Amino acid sequence: MKYDVKDLELATEGKKRIEWADNDMPVLEEIRKRFEVEKPLKGKKMAACLHITTETANLARTLKAGGADLVLCASNPLSTQDDVAAALVKNYEIPVFAIKGEDHETYYNHIHACLKHDPVITMDDGADLVSVLHTEYSEKCQQIYASMEETTTGVIRLRAMNKDKALKLPVFAVNDAMTKHLFDNRYGTGQSTVDGIIRATDILLAGKTVVVSGYGWCGRGVATRMKGMGANVIITEVDPIRALEAAMDGYWVMPMEKAASMADLIVTLTGNIHVINEKHFKVMKDGAVVANSGHFNVEIDIPALEKLAVKVRKNIRNNIVDEYQLEDGRRIFLLGHGRLINLAAAEGHPASVMDMSFATQALVTEYALQRKLTPDVYEVPGEIEKYISTLKLKTMGITIDILTDEQANYLNSWEMGT
Ligand SMILES: NC(=O)c1ccc[n+]([C@@H]2O[C@H](COP(=O)([O-])OP(=O)(O)OC[C@H]3O[C@@H](n4cnc5c(N)ncnc54)[C@H](O)[C@@H]3O)[C@@H](O)[C@H]2O)c1
Repeated sequence: MKYDVKDLELATEGKKRIEWADNDMPVLEEIRKRFEVEKPLKGKKMAACLHITTETANLARTLKAGGADLVLCASNPLSTQDDVAAALVKNYEIPVFAIKGEDHETYYNHIHACLKHDPVITMDDGADLVSVLHTEYSEKCQQIYASMEETTTGVIRLRAMNKDKALKLPVFAVNDAMTKHLFDNRYGTGQSTVDGIIRATDILLAGKTVVVSGYGWCGRGVATRMKGMGANVIITEVDPIRALEAAMDGYWVMPMEKAASMADLIVTLTGNIHVINEKHFKVMKDGAVVANSGHFNVEIDIPALEKLAVKVRKNIRNNIVDEYQLEDGRRIFLLGHGRLINLAAAEGHPASVMDMSFATQALVTEYALQRKLTPDVYEVPGEIEKYISTLKLKTMGITIDILTDEQANYLNSWEMGT
């Protein structure tokens, strides 16, 4: 078996952590049990470019249980958990190409290694794998049943490809499923971003002024938790509806230039480029902390910060905090080299929330293999979402009311008024 991980000796710890996460992934477990019997993915070559975490390991186990011939690579150079990568190879016999901190060249070599596996179905988190597939292996696109996309930024890229008529394979926008973004982006990114910032800095959030840039699913989650920890939260937005929503949720809303001058901590979650740039660094207070939890590290204009700095001290804490000193002596602390901080400094989303995201991924994989689809961006079928949410409620011991026939008829009729 070919693979490239940091150290197979780490496998024992990785296996323990994978099993711990599995305790909180009952929906995926249910699917895995069925897959073991029915083998709906039997013999299908599959490549998945995902954050290599304990939760991803349990998804990989599920796909393998379904019969998939699966290889994995990282979807971010800093998000790999090396012990998990080792355990996947050693204990679960799933080839992994991922090492935490890998350079740009290695990151792409690993994507190539996965594509050389000759997959007929792919999974992506940010669309890097699909992008390389289109540019360097375009002849293979027609053999792909479908690709599943996990995150907002990836779906945006794929929709742009589709609009340009450049998309050569069917794609499922898994991120857009309610069973994904409503819980994973909001509660998962919300909690784990705060976790990553605290692990990196040990900062006390109570009483601090925290700027959250982007009031989308992730931003809402982070803002709520920051507020709950006692921070004064400011939101920056470019969308008037989301800005209005933030204002009515009780946050200060203002442009970044003003917010940056007040911030003790700024977190970006926009999926956009250079949301914090030179003019913002110039007005920041001494000691301001800057972090990103959006998919790519372009949200913070790091080259501009490097240009402004007269002195840079790298890795001054936990290998994850860099200090940039400006000409007038002010210091700006950049976390995680601008990479998504919940994975760079913490463990990513808790397993309970990834249970639903990855149950969605597993079931969409099965669904796609049963069909011959044409290139397009597809929504996750409603019946899959209903199945997952019903099962998740059941595992949480929650029951809900059922529509009576009278209510169902009423909701489907138009005749009855006041
Ligand atoms: N860290 C993680 O584990 C994790 C998990 C899920 C998603 N993500 C990533 O987080 C990012 C946000 O995802 P989302 O689901 O919240 O997306 P979203 O589309 O729901 O929200 C993004 C928000 O940012 C706003 N925005 C865009 N440009 C801006 C700017 N210049 N200034 C201020 N606001 C701006 C948009 O108007 C929008 O409201 C994406 O890159 C996504 O891929 C990260």
